[in-house]
Formats: sequence, structure tokens, C-alpha cells
Amino acid sequence: MPRVLVIHGPLMNHIGEAETDLYGMETYEEINASLAAMGAAAEVEVDVFQSAIEGELVNAIAEARGKYNFIIINPAAYSHTSVAIHDAVVFCGVPTIEVHLSSLANREPFRNQSTISRVVTGRIEGLGAESYRLALRYAIERLVGHE
Ligand code: DQA
Repeated sequence: MPRVLVIHGPLMNHIGEAETDLYGMETYEEINASLAAMGAAAEVEVDVFQSAIEGELVNAIAEARGKYNFIIINPAAYSHTSVAIHDAVVFCGVPTIEVHLSSLANREPFRNQSTISRVVTGRIEGLGAESYRLALRYAIERLVGHE
């Protein structure tokens, strides 16, 4: 069975609890449940990892090498600072889709740059939780040819 790893960075486990104007009302559990349902329907394994610790995210990405067919990642605040996550994406060699709930271009200038954007397969942002589902839809389409 093809395998997709969804990685959430810091505070993503609190989505839906605050700043809902920016990030939407859907909770972390609801987003993951919707991804699991999509995976089950398509017979694609969807695993989820979340951490607020940069090194744990780096380890999860590195360990995905040779084990996963796609990574969907929202590195959250580390998107704007982490060379280590950039290097892990390159090291793991797994096609990776970067997602963001909010539209980075419409926010503070320090969010305009993402360290991983130049090494990911593609990036979806600004569509709330739908950013994750569209990323998974793309991965499923590539892996099994249908949703
Ligand atoms: C975010 C955008 C980041 O700038 C921010 O630090 C987050 C969430 C998003 O999904 O919109 O934590 O990655």
C-alpha cells in the first residue's frame, strides 16, 4: 500500500483553538480525520506526525527516506527559519508538498520566505484545512491514479 506521511510543525495541534480568522475553525483532530478518511477510501496509508521540536521534525523527515511515497508538511514557524528542515527534505528524497493554512504572501514580511520552498515538489497555501486535503488529493492521484 502506498504511504503518505503528514507532518505538522509547532502549534499545529492547536489549530482551530485560536486565530481562527487566519487558520480556520477546523481542529487538528478534524483535519487529520478527514485526511485519514481520504486515505482509507483510496487505499493509501496516511500517517501523521506532529512536533514543536525542530530536531524531531528533522528526524521524522529523514526517517521517511525509503519508507514513504509522499510527505505533506506544514513546518509552521520553522518554515521561515529552518535550514535543517530544508536539508532533511533534500536528504530524504521523498516527493514533498509544503502546505500552509494561511496565505504567507498576505502576512508579515518575515513569513514571505520559506526555506523549503525551493526543494519541495509543490506548495499549497491560503486555503485553510483545504490546503492539506488538496495536497493529499494530489499525492493520491499520483500514487494510485484516482481519489
Ligand atoms: C503557518 C504559517 C506560519 O507562518 C505560522 O508560523 C504557522 C502556521 C500556516 O499554516 O499558515 O504556524 O504555517
